[in-house]
Amino acid sequence: MIDLIEVTKSYGKGLPALNKATVHIDKGEFVFVVGSSGSGKTTLIRLLLKELDPTSGSIVVGGERLEGMKRSRVAKYRRRLGVVFQDFRLLKDRNVYENVAFAQRVIGRPTRVIKRRVPEVLQEVGLADKYRSFPDELSGGEQQRVALARALVNRPDILLADEPTGNLDPRTSEEIMGLLEQINQRGTTVLVVTHNKDIVNAMRKRVVTMNEGVIVSDEKEGEYHEA
Ligand SMILES: Nc1ncnc2c1ncn2[C@@H]1O[C@H](COP(=O)(O)OP(=O)(O)OP(=O)(O)O)[C@@H](O)[C@H]1O
Ligand SMILES: [Mg+2]
Repeated sequence: MIDLIEVTKSYGKGLPALNKATVHIDKGEFVFVVGSSGSGKTTLIRLLLKELDPTSGSIVVGGERLEGMKRSRVAKYRRRLGVVFQDFRLLKDRNVYENVAFAQRVIGRPTRVIKRRVPEVLQEVGLADKYRSFPDELSGGEQQRVALARALVNRPDILLADEPTGNLDPRTSEEIMGLLEQINQRGTTVLVVTHNKDIVNAMRKRVVTMNEGVIVSDEKEGEYHEA
C-alpha cells in the first residue's frame, strides 16, 4: 500500500530531514512511527500527502507513483488518504455535522448521500449525539473524534495521524488510539506518528523508529525505543 524506496528530503543545507528511507507497508497494516523531535516524522507524512516532493528516491502509494503526478491527479490521489493532526484543525464557526459534511461537499457528493453518510461516520467515532455542537463546546478528545470522522467520511484507504494524542490526557489518548485500532480492523491502513511511549508499548504494533532522518529500526510487535 505504501512504498518508500531510498527517499531523501533535504530542505536546504545540513542533514536531510529524511535520509534514504526505505519502508514497505502492506494494505491493512497498523504502523507507529516514533523518534525524537526533528527526526523527520512529519516530513514523512507530508511526502505521503504530496505536500512535499522528495529530493531523491521514489514513493508509490496504492499503486500510484507520486513522482511526476499531474496536479489534476494529486487532488484525486489525496482523497485516498485521511489525515488527522495534533491540533484537530476543525472549522470553529461550523458545527460537528458541518465539519464532517464539508469534506464530502468539496468532492461534490450529493446532499442525499451526505445526509446518510455523516451520521454513520459520527456513530463510528462515538459522537452521534453531538452533531449540533461547535468545536469550542467539545473536549479535546471529542474534537479529535470529529477530526477523525472528517478524515474517514470519504472512506480513505489510508489514515495518516501526526501526533493525534499530543494534546490529550492519558485516558483520552488511549480512547483515541483504541478508535484508530478499530478503524484499522475494519480494513483501513493506519500510520500513526506518536511520542506516547506507554501506548506504543501497550499496543504491540509494528514500530518504525527514526533518528535524524534515518529509519533506525522497524519491528513487528515492537516497542518504543529512545533513539
Ligand atoms: N519547511 C521546512 N523548512 C526547513 N526545514 C524544515 C521544514 N520542516 C521541517 N524542517 C526540518 O526538518 C527536520 C525534520 O523535521 P520534522 O518536522 O519532519 O520532524 P518531526 O520528527 O516531525 O519532529 P516533531 O516530533 O518535533 O514533530 C528538522 O530538522 C526540521 O527543522
Ligand atoms: Mg512532527
